[in-house]
Amino acid sequence: MIKVNNLDVQFGKRILFQDVNMKFTPGNCYGIIGANGAGKSTFLRVISKQLDPTRGTVSLGPGERLSVLSQDHFAFDEYTVMDTVLMGHTTLWEVMSEKNALYAKPDFSDADGIRVSELEEKFAEMEGWNAESDAAALLSGLGIAEEFHYTLMKDMSGKQKVRVLLARALFGQPDNLLLDEPTNDLDIQTLQVLEEYLQDFAGCVIVVSHDRYFMDKVVDHLLVFKGEGEIQDFPGNYTQYREWSRMQAKDEAEQAKPAKSGNATAESDGAGTAKRDANFENKRKMSYKEKREYEQLTQEIDALTEEQKKLEEELCSGNLSVEELTEKSKRLPEIKDELDEKEMRWLELAEML
Ligand SMILES: Nc1ncnc2c1ncn2[C@@H]1O[C@H](COP(=O)(O)OP(=O)(O)OP(=O)(O)O)[C@@H](O)[C@H]1O
Ligand SMILES: [Mg+2]
Repeated sequence: MIKVNNLDVQFGKRILFQDVNMKFTPGNCYGIIGANGAGKSTFLRVISKQLDPTRGTVSLGPGERLSVLSQDHFAFDEYTVMDTVLMGHTTLWEVMSEKNALYAKPDFSDADGIRVSELEEKFAEMEGWNAESDAAALLSGLGIAEEFHYTLMKDMSGKQKVRVLLARALFGQPDNLLLDEPTNDLDIQTLQVLEEYLQDFAGCVIVVSHDRYFMDKVVDHLLVFKGEGEIQDFPGNYTQYREWSRMQAKDEAEQAKPAKSGNATAESDGAGTAKRDANFENKRKMSYKEKREYEQLTQEIDALTEEQKKLEEELCSGNLSVEELTEKSKRLPEIKDELDEKEMRWLELAEML
């Protein structure tokens, strides 16, 4: 569980959050969406204590652990794959390191012996003896074969590193998990493992993503960062939110209609119509051009999402030749980029509704 109390975050004069109060409970996956610069990453950095808020507190449930998917692909270059994953469980790693350092001492004292037995107790409580085999199973599940488990991170490919960093975040079943744009560097197979993991995850997940298909699969609660510190809490996934936004837009348009036909004289008066339309536009804060763009984007996003889904199914089907696989794999990142771009614009426009 993550509790955010009276949170303010301000950079210079810019207020990013003001008096945010929220509770994130176990068994739920919360998705965060919002335009670039709305403060999504900052919010996660505050929760993971990488950044101090201007005011307010963040707390976890008693004795709980929080894990973050690292975006830094080079941070663990000098460590082995196995150590990188084990280090994901900070407390366990600290106990292991201190214990090993004491055992390695040439002048092992009585005091060291007492300390070691304390550490051994903690180690056993955390099921430390299973740690390596758990980490190995996690790595293998994410497609990192055993022969690489003791390779240095710097000798792994970029794609493999992403999988290891994911294993590191998931290792030791954290109570709370923070993921900022996790799908950006993931290949389809790893993405599927992550989706399945999150669907079964008993703890609390907060994930920032522009990937609507991914969000729809894993998220059951959406927070829309609208900028200027405004956060909208929506009890559903991305598609449901879009549908709800569309319905709202429709309702508003419906409400605006009677005013339009209610005044017959103004209807024939060119200037009056223009004025009334201007008022209408003012209320909607969206020009006709933008409205058309919004509708068009909605269709394009649906079509691209459908294309992405089909393509992913085809790629996973095992029915394609190597040539077909290579050819079709090229299209997938293009679709993702297009979707990212269109969805960002779609959100900007949706917020004017
Ligand atoms: N340490 C900092 N000092 C000053 N300004 C900052 C700092 N960190 C972030 N900002 C600003 O705060 C705003 C929010 O940044 P943040 O990275 O949280 O946005 P975001 O919603 O994650 O955007 P994106 O979708 O591009 O990842 C941005 O305008 C950014 O420039
Ligand atoms: Mg960000």
